[in-house]
Amino acid sequence: MDFAVSNRPLEKSKADALVVLLGKKNDLPQALPSATREQISQFTKAGDFNASKGQLVWLHAPQDLNADRLLLVGTGDSPLSDQGWLSLVHKATKTLASSPVKQAMWLLDDTHTQTLEWQVREGSRVVEESTYRFDNYRSKPAPASNLAKLTFWHAEKDATLTKAHKTGKAVGLGVNVARDLGNLPPNDCYPEYLSGVARDLGKEYEKLTVKVLSQAQAEKMGMGAFHAVAKGSERQGQIIVMEYKGAKPTKQGPVALVGKGITFDTGGISLKPGATMDEMKYDMGGAASVFGSVKTVCELDLPIHLVAVVAAAENMPDGRAARPGDIVKTLSGQTVEILNTDAEGRLVLCDALTYVQQKHKPHTVIDIATLTGACVVALGAHAQAVYSNDDDLSEALLAAGKETGDRGWPMPLWDEYQGQLDSPFADMQNIGGPKAGSITAACFLSRFTKEVKWAHLDIAGTAWTSGGMSKGATGRPVPMLTRYLMDNA
Ligand code: BES
Ligand code: MN
Ligand code: ZN
Repeated sequence: MDFAVSNRPLEKSKADALVVLLGKKNDLPQALPSATREQISQFTKAGDFNASKGQLVWLHAPQDLNADRLLLVGTGDSPLSDQGWLSLVHKATKTLASSPVKQAMWLLDDTHTQTLEWQVREGSRVVEESTYRFDNYRSKPAPASNLAKLTFWHAEKDATLTKAHKTGKAVGLGVNVARDLGNLPPNDCYPEYLSGVARDLGKEYEKLTVKVLSQAQAEKMGMGAFHAVAKGSERQGQIIVMEYKGAKPTKQGPVALVGKGITFDTGGISLKPGATMDEMKYDMGGAASVFGSVKTVCELDLPIHLVAVVAAAENMPDGRAARPGDIVKTLSGQTVEILNTDAEGRLVLCDALTYVQQKHKPHTVIDIATLTGACVVALGAHAQAVYSNDDDLSEALLAAGKETGDRGWPMPLWDEYQGQLDSPFADMQNIGGPKAGSITAACFLSRFTKEVKWAHLDIAGTAWTSGGMSKGATGRPVPMLTRYLMDNA
């Protein structure tokens, strides 16, 4: 999608459609010519449009405008929340994309609580996301949408808006990269495939270097927990390291992202039930969000130093797979009794977390993982769980999520939960029993991040949506992560 901003007189601005948001209690925008406003009023009086929230109505041949049609979007009778506004943008884009409209113009809304800059930035992102399609696996893909260009219109010139639509588009691009990876079937998207994705990014962007540790190298180095998961599959596990140098490295060190990249989670010997097991192809959603974020960072050429690590493996039941009862030694030296092979995410992550600290000395580490079903029970699809050993980091992530509509919610890491991980045979066990499953998983990871500012995002509920034909990867939390990086790194 091409984006632009314009403040040329509306009467002279050529467009196939002009999109106008209208509230029940608001006056019609003064920017519209009076003849057009009169026409909308009559349309409303006739009962064709009442501005109720989510109502979308076409009005053809608007008077005194150089646009072929209006798309009237109702915002209801109270001011829209950010989330409500973004979902209207999504809805309106879907309608535009399935119409003959090629060039649309969007009248920015002075009555909305958010700034014009926010409207353009998050609006562009949502438009980019709303035109996403995943149909490489269909023999006859649906015909492409006509919609090619969206121009944001406002009477006053505002220099920040050009940057805003570039930022929004780049974040949308990153979200869509993450969605593609999450949607790919697990027979095609396996650990070595993800290494290829990283290498391709490394070729595309000069400031990005890529290094991959093979499963054998990881084992030799001492990543016993990662290896215990990876060895149960025919597909070779991979530790993928991407380093982006958009700024000179400083004494402070880089910021690090670490993603869970389980390309398929059968549960291993602790086999999962069959129903909806297909969805476990998105168990690399954390890794996908790391790739998506790297894409956005590179596109925007951000002046930061970032290290991104993906712990990629396939969790399979096999003659060589780990058994419940196995004890393994992690790269940190701590030992873990594997009581349930389905709690594999924390096993691959703990070694990746130790690795990035040993090799890159980051000042901050954020891991992202579809870690627990318990998190889906606790927060559902609307917020990712945010855990941290540092209040400023936690607040920064929550703020970044609020700003982008990619929300998180804080969760505790109190010492009292740690006892659930005590093992009679090793330094710890990999499960904490039926209570507080998302928290005890985070507590497990906290034992590998004692010396660094660290946050953990459990995205099991947010990285995927499962409503019939709209089932698929969401690309979350790329908006939260990239906003955090733009504001803090
Ligand atoms: N990948 C799953 C978590 C998950 C479940 C993500 C549902 C998305 C949707 C993870 O590896 C897992 O299986 N966790 C177990 C942990 C348990 C064995 C302690 C779980 O949540 O059941
Ligand atoms: Mn599992
Ligand atoms: Zn898993």
